[in-house]
Amino acid sequence: MIKVNDLEFSYTKNPYMKDLSFEVNDGEIFGFLGPSGAGKSTLQKILTGVLSNYKGSVVVNNTEVKQAKANFYENIGVDFEFPSLYEKLTALENLKFFASLYSRTQDISKLIESVGLQFDANKKVMDYSKGMKSRLNFIKALLHNPQIIFLDEPTSGLDPTNAKIIKDIILQEKAKGKTIILTTHNMYDATELCDRVAFIVDGKIRIIDTPRNLIMSRKKAIIEYSYFDNDKELTSKIALNETGSDNTLRKAISNNQITSIHSSEPSLNDIFIEVTGRTLE
Ligand SMILES: Nc1ncnc2c1ncn2[C@@H]1O[C@H](COP(=O)(O)OP(=O)(O)OP(=O)(O)O)[C@@H](O)[C@H]1O
Ligand SMILES: [Mg+2]
Repeated sequence: MIKVNDLEFSYTKNPYMKDLSFEVNDGEIFGFLGPSGAGKSTLQKILTGVLSNYKGSVVVNNTEVKQAKANFYENIGVDFEFPSLYEKLTALENLKFFASLYSRTQDISKLIESVGLQFDANKKVMDYSKGMKSRLNFIKALLHNPQIIFLDEPTSGLDPTNAKIIKDIILQEKAKGKTIILTTHNMYDATELCDRVAFIVDGKIRIIDTPRNLIMSRKKAIIEYSYFDNDKELTSKIALNETGSDNTLRKAISNNQITSIHSSEPSLNDIFIEVTGRTLE
């Protein structure tokens, strides 16, 4: 669906992105995960044809992006980092206008309802809250039922309920066979949603793998447990794959002395630090 080969790009005379190569498969949710300023939005702008003065090859939906014509966007939906909406128009008027740019569109009222904006559809966007704008911008990307969806921080600034609604829609789109590119610095979103993630720092991709492989194949998961021994509560920890050889744990279990057990896998942020030396937070 997406094939990037030896991509090179810079905003200035100094090289920024260099030798970037990766592929995104049909039907997968692929994440760009990295801290602020890593180059996530830049990469998304290159993939969607906003920045076309790149070197190397960027093929999206069988089209070299810098040569893309207007019909390229019939199959591509983009939710930019900053909402791009007409403030003086209502939400409904905005969606109707953007819908008129495409040859086919989805049922607009259903889309509005899917993100809980049905009672605010006739409100001007200038009177929308940040989260409302963000939800409207998100459905704008889905208007024409595109095959490839680019989402730049789609849950940023949303409360947990609305973030969940957006994440559920993303998963529904995947279930319909769509390919989704998701930009985020939120490790929880990346772990929950992405089939594969690319760690990106300073314009470079440092590793690409599934969240599970990244988490399980690197740092060890740990068990922390507390137990009573001679009326004193003690705590101890052991690697999850070494519990069988922990005699204290075995004894505490067989004597019913355990008071709590927690297992803690490393988070994607722990792995990010290990791989890149930088933190996501
Ligand atoms: N139009 C521009 N001109 C010059 N430099 C830019 C421009 N846009 C972005 N940059 C620089 O490119 C780098 C990457 O920016 P980008 O917006 O891609 O980061 P990001 O990973 O999306 O960060 P965030 O998580 O904060 O959105 C930054 O150093 C930024 O200052
Ligand atoms: Mg960004």
